[in-house]
Amino acid sequence: MQGPIHLAVLLSGTGRTLQNIIDKIEQGSLDARIEVVVGSHADAFGLQRAKNHGIPVVVVEKKRYKRIEEFSDEITTQLRKYRADLVIMAGFNCLYKIPDKYAGRVMNIHPALIPSFCGRDFWGKKVHKAVLDYGTKVSGCTVHFADNTYDNGPIILQRVVPVINGDTPESLADRVFKEECSAYPEAIRLFQQGKLKIEGRKVSILP
Ligand code: GRF
Repeated sequence: MQGPIHLAVLLSGTGRTLQNIIDKIEQGSLDARIEVVVGSHADAFGLQRAKNHGIPVVVVEKKRYKRIEEFSDEITTQLRKYRADLVIMAGFNCLYKIPDKYAGRVMNIHPALIPSFCGRDFWGKKVHKAVLDYGTKVSGCTVHFADNTYDNGPIILQRVVPVINGDTPESLADRVFKEECSAYPEAIRLFQQGKLKIEGRKVSILP
């Protein structure tokens, strides 16, 4: 892909992931342009972060839709108004039924090593609490292509962090988030360079 990759961002919350992408773009380490940020909650702080950087914002409030199909259709209608080479979920706590137009062009990041501690009920601090309660010795993050099931699509890359004695959900979350901050931009760069080949559940990273 020549020139910056055009991104659309879906978010529900504080927008730290969005901020990381904005920072990487501004630092010059990610050749991208964020065309639009779509929020599923009108009061999501991530929308304010977008506005602070002059990025167009659209609200598609999840609570206004009874069916996930209608909610998803409205998101797609909004996205169609912008150029989006890649749609990235950035703390987006809803399911988005992906239309054919965006098949293989929607990414998500999850703050655990999929297929552990993932799925509909695993978001925010709950993920890290579940990791600590289970007693695993490592955790991490996963960047994957999204499909129509929570945290399910083909895995692009994973980063591992240790779980340390005395960790709290907050301390583990911080350690994982540091990895997220380099993993997500890296996955976006690989996509931009045309290096991600999806075959069924598997993603090969081409040289
Ligand atoms: C991150 O932990 C990410 O893995 C998950 O949502 C969290 C970020 O949310 N998908 P936010 O960007 O702080 O709103």
